[in-house]
Amino acid sequence: MDRILIRGGRGLTGNLPVSGSKNATLPILAAVLLVDGPVVLRNVPRLTDVETMLRILEQLGVATNWRPDGALELEVKDKTVYQAPYDLVRKMRASFVVLGPLWVRRGVAKVSYPGGCVFGHRPVDLHLKGMRDLGGDISFEGGNVIVAGRAKGGVTFLGGNYGSTVLGTANVVMAAVLAQGTTYIEYAALEPEVQDLCKFLNACGARIKGIGSHLLEIEGVDMLHGCEWSIIPDRIEAGTFLCGAIMTNSPVTVTGVEPMHLLAMLDRLRAAGANLEVGKDFIRNIPTASGRLKAVDITTMPHPGFPTDLQAQFMALMARAEGVSVITEKVYPERFIHASELQRLGARIRREGPSAIIEGTEELQGAPVMASDLRASASLVLAGLVARGDTNVHRVYHIDRGYEKIEKKLQCVGADIERIHETSPRASEVSEN
Ligand code: EPU
Repeated sequence: MDRILIRGGRGLTGNLPVSGSKNATLPILAAVLLVDGPVVLRNVPRLTDVETMLRILEQLGVATNWRPDGALELEVKDKTVYQAPYDLVRKMRASFVVLGPLWVRRGVAKVSYPGGCVFGHRPVDLHLKGMRDLGGDISFEGGNVIVAGRAKGGVTFLGGNYGSTVLGTANVVMAAVLAQGTTYIEYAALEPEVQDLCKFLNACGARIKGIGSHLLEIEGVDMLHGCEWSIIPDRIEAGTFLCGAIMTNSPVTVTGVEPMHLLAMLDRLRAAGANLEVGKDFIRNIPTASGRLKAVDITTMPHPGFPTDLQAQFMALMARAEGVSVITEKVYPERFIHASELQRLGARIRREGPSAIIEGTEELQGAPVMASDLRASASLVLAGLVARGDTNVHRVYHIDRGYEKIEKKLQCVGADIERIHETSPRASEVSEN
């Protein structure tokens, strides 16, 4: 099992380029199941989660090919398979988004029910409610969800206890685009990744109105045709790099970003005293005299609120700020495993229900730490960049699921970071995202 070794305390300088968005790519890959004809995707990140989804699509009859120029070609060749293989599906929760496309395109879908998750309870009731409202007959058998019946369209409300659902919206939208009627989705998620999926589908001939709002109107069409599409930049990777630049008080420019996707993050960073120059497609950190931020509070919420996927990284940032900050997690109230690992580096953090209270300290010290999920690993790498001494982040296979060559990108701006390959009997196959 690989680990990442970081010798902290180095200043960084230069550009950190952002890859395509993982969370936009995964549902768009599932959407290929709906399309007749070839699809060409650009700006697809080379991540293990993307490779897992490609293996699932291949089992479902899709031909996939990475071109030498980095574009990804996909085309459905065989429409007979309607069951997503358990062995692959269990590796990644996001693979549940093949349910809607399989049902509407192949008449029936059988997909493994997602199991437990380190964030706590992660139900899929809203996905199923949406399909039922569109005409799906839902049943369960041997750990699988089966959706059958004719997709007729209809009215569905996808609001849950914490707001909308990202992949639930994606799943229902994909079923609705080929349904034999019109669908209204109220309380649809409006995350940029959901918008990218809807725009991709429209480029293939779907009729989705209201993109970017909570109310989507989808007129079903008979078929979708292929198209060429470029995936949006990864706002979470961009926000992670920004935290690294600010924590190390370094003149670093995060490039290839869409700043409009990061407004909540930028607002909190500025409130904490970060000096940022924002351009059309870049965000530059300008070092400050003190090099230390003021503590600020955040509460995670669905978009356009502060994203839960940047909560762990923001906690690493606040661990060294001046004062006390309160981080409240409203999307996944149990998503705090990273707090204990950050404490091993000297951070002062205590939990109170869905909140973490962080008392900033001037210095963190390197230590061996364990990554528990994708964003937790990113927060530990960030903390390692400023900790005194060596930090070894173990179980880095988590980070490879969502960050493309993170150590290489950070090396290019001067970080003392390396991946150490170690042979191991097994790497976990349990998914968090
Ligand atoms: N929820 C329900 N019922 C459902 C679905 C969700 O109650 O049927 C609840 C969840 O328990 C949670 C909230 O609704 O409290 C939001 O969950 P959501 O469904 O929006 O999450 P998701 O779609 O499964 C995606 C991202 C996650 C990201 C969340 C929230 C992908 C592949 N995953 O998950 O990304 O945290 O939205 O923004 O898009 C990550 O990239 O590290 C990651 C975990």
